[in-house]
Amino acid sequence: MNLERRADAPGALHAASQAQPNIALVKYWGKRDTVLNLPAVGSISITLDSLWTRTEVRFVPGQKHDQVSLNGRSDEAESRRITACLDLLRQRAGVDYGAEVSSQNNFPTAAGLASSASGFAALVHAGAQALGLTLSLAEQSVLARRCSGSAARSIFGGYVEWAHGKLADGTDSVASPLLDAQAWPLRVAVAITSKAAKQVGSSEGMRRTAQTSPYQSAWVDTQEADLDTARAAILARDFDALAQISEYSCLKMHALAMAAQPGLLYWNGATVECMHRVRALRQQGVPVFFTVDAGPQLKAVCAPAAIEQVKDALRDIPGVLDVLDTGLGEGARAMPAGALQT
Ligand code: DP6
Repeated sequence: MNLERRADAPGALHAASQAQPNIALVKYWGKRDTVLNLPAVGSISITLDSLWTRTEVRFVPGQKHDQVSLNGRSDEAESRRITACLDLLRQRAGVDYGAEVSSQNNFPTAAGLASSASGFAALVHAGAQALGLTLSLAEQSVLARRCSGSAARSIFGGYVEWAHGKLADGTDSVASPLLDAQAWPLRVAVAITSKAAKQVGSSEGMRRTAQTSPYQSAWVDTQEADLDTARAAILARDFDALAQISEYSCLKMHALAMAAQPGLLYWNGATVECMHRVRALRQQGVPVFFTVDAGPQLKAVCAPAAIEQVKDALRDIPGVLDVLDTGLGEGARAMPAGALQT
């Protein structure tokens, strides 16, 4: 890795960054190495724009522990993950002191809205800056991957592929951009059907699935073909092809997870109603498709002209609490330090 410490970094030890969640169209589910957090399969996603995480990191020489505030609160399990992530940065920089971390999301946390993706992408970006580490985007993506797999993709904007990789050290299991957001500016309506934190987190869900689901090997064996299909659809801006492969990958991932023991059922009734509504709209000629991650929220991806119709249709469904609307956006980037309250 090409890393060096900048001795003269402006704003040294203190920096802030913003990153946005991404939504996988060809899903990541399963790990082949839990220490390096290497995925069992490659994946393809879109990075969003109007949902965000903003994170400020201040390293304090002499401080032994990290102090973490997430949306103004502290959470022990999340703090442990943040410390583990900061440890990777501290190792690179050769320092051992603690940090004050303050992070805010403008969307519900831990309810299947990819808060860990934007959260760890913003943390790695801000932490590296604060420590004066000069890291390429690919190197940031590798570090973000170790903190949470999907965070590897939020380092980049637009359409992004996270490669399975071949190397044992994981340095080639990295995300890279496929197409800019502006090159195919699809929109996304997010139907919020629950604001509760999910009961089984992704890491635990993947572990249980790999150990008990009889479909695990079929999932791994068929992923390369799905990635090829989705990549070609994106590069050709072929909406129908992307719709088909995305719904297929989503339903296949959930079928795999439902077949674990005990089965993982991330949907509620409203999630399923939303799926039917999206398919009915598409049958009527509206360019829209759905995807759902490890939670009950449904994301409807559509052509820009269809967004109001899609939002109205989802809002009508009993059990839908709110519908957010976002375009596709950029990758992780610096913000003025001090813009967030620490
Ligand atoms: C269903 O990235 O949250 O959203 O690597 O264990 O932190 P960890 O998992 P995480 O899993 C995301 C799973 C998914 C599909 C996806 O984003 O590709």
